[in-house]
Amino acid sequence: MTAENLETLLASIDLSQPAPQEEPLRQYYFLKKCRLHVQKEAEKLGRPLTACVTTFGCQMNARDSEKLSGILEQAGYVLSDSEEADFDIYNTCTVRDNADQRVYGRLGRLNGLKKKNPHMKVALCGCMMQEPGTIEKIRKSYRFVDLIFGTHNIFKFAELLNAVFEQDGMIVDIWQGTDRIVEDLPVERKYAFKSGINIMFGCNNFCSYCIVPYVRGRERSRDPKDILREIKQLAADGVVEVMLLGQNVNSYGKNLEQPVTFAELLSEVVKIEGIRRVRFMTSHPKDLSDDLIRVMASSDKICRHLHLPLQSGSTRILRAMNRRYTKEQYLALVDRIRNAIPDIALTTDIIVGFPGETPEDVDETIDVIRRVGFDNAFTFIYSKRTGTPAASMQNQVPEELVRTGFDRVLKTVQETARQQVKRLSGRTMEALVEEVNEHDASLVTGRLSNNTLVHFPGDPSLIGQIVPVKLEEYKGFYFLGRRAEETKQDAAAHRQSGEP
Ligand code: 5AD
Ligand code: SF4
Repeated sequence: MTAENLETLLASIDLSQPAPQEEPLRQYYFLKKCRLHVQKEAEKLGRPLTACVTTFGCQMNARDSEKLSGILEQAGYVLSDSEEADFDIYNTCTVRDNADQRVYGRLGRLNGLKKKNPHMKVALCGCMMQEPGTIEKIRKSYRFVDLIFGTHNIFKFAELLNAVFEQDGMIVDIWQGTDRIVEDLPVERKYAFKSGINIMFGCNNFCSYCIVPYVRGRERSRDPKDILREIKQLAADGVVEVMLLGQNVNSYGKNLEQPVTFAELLSEVVKIEGIRRVRFMTSHPKDLSDDLIRVMASSDKICRHLHLPLQSGSTRILRAMNRRYTKEQYLALVDRIRNAIPDIALTTDIIVGFPGETPEDVDETIDVIRRVGFDNAFTFIYSKRTGTPAASMQNQVPEELVRTGFDRVLKTVQETARQQVKRLSGRTMEALVEEVNEHDASLVTGRLSNNTLVHFPGDPSLIGQIVPVKLEEYKGFYFLGRRAEETKQDAAAHRQSGEP
């Protein structure tokens, strides 16, 4: 929805009437109420109200946070990176225990801030809130929290925000599941030139270590028409790169009334004018189709990067993980992909220390890493998640053994990634410039189609542009480079001055 359309819609809402039942209209009704409240508070305080959204976890959560930010901004808050704000919200993750611990640690600090600012409101949402036991713990030990909601009712944020303004005490609204997808709510994108797009929600795979299916619910796919409409709108807004998001994009569309495959969706997305790069995340190896490989090979708009979580290289452990592929099937899939798209970068996720894993199983994982030669891999120590089948397995691996295995895997990953990425040295490739370099303001940071980062001299005017960059110096996981045009000019300058 454009800003103009939003204002027209809000103007047409009559707050003297009861809230409408249908969505998303109901949320716009509450958004208008929130606006009046925020405006009044700001007038009373003589300054604008600020809000800070903190995201933990994956790309899905990052996109959800853009939706939270969209509501807060439309309600009249000024978004801020500082937690010393009038409204603080943590969008939490629970995939591993250390994500939970980080939230609790930071919550303690928020309590201190809230004591200093009596207007401050604190909200928690996301995956961790869906876990049994979390709410009880917060009720007991973090009583200053004003609002808690989960993953299934995030679309209701405007309504819940309004409830915080109208009621005292902690508001808790957690749904156990939903088959509902509410379209057309405001979104505030972090980047002007790139955007994530949810194509599906939830997961049906039940890998035995994973909490996601319990906290994100069953698979639901968005209607392809809604997805394509959203991407066309993004392109009209200047977005050049989109990332299609789902826990397992390969099962996209299976449960729609008129089933559509992910390969079919992707081939429609690449046709959208203005979109120059398409990425997607995440692909489960068990159902990555040959059609998808064909579509990827047929369009150079589709980025030369595939994130293909391996988790383990041992067929025995893969079976216990309920991954539904063997080591050999994974390797054969990689061959099919590489044969069709030779310049593709492959990245992966690996878990070390799954119940029953022996050093020989770790050897199998290392063997796959060497054979595939991943461009990058995220290596995780197995974390026991209550309620998952793996948590009640008897043969949990002793910590010391896990450490040793983890260190071996990490070392191999670093070696192969270095070799793999280094092979691009000296090539000129297109980079989408994302930001000014964090450490050196004379440099900008660009992302290659294959997801590798390159830092090169440039100014902020380049942000959002796709420019050719010569990859001059490999620095371990990233490159230092120079804009290709500059290199040509430099060469010309050298010729004029008679230098070789
Ligand atoms: N312990 C460790 N890592 C996990 N992941 C998911 N669940 C767990 C767990 N219980 C990892 C997987 C997944 C990534 C997003 O997180 O590797 O691909
Ligand atoms: Fe978790 Fe497996 Fe679903 Fe990924 S595919 S979210 S690892 S259950």
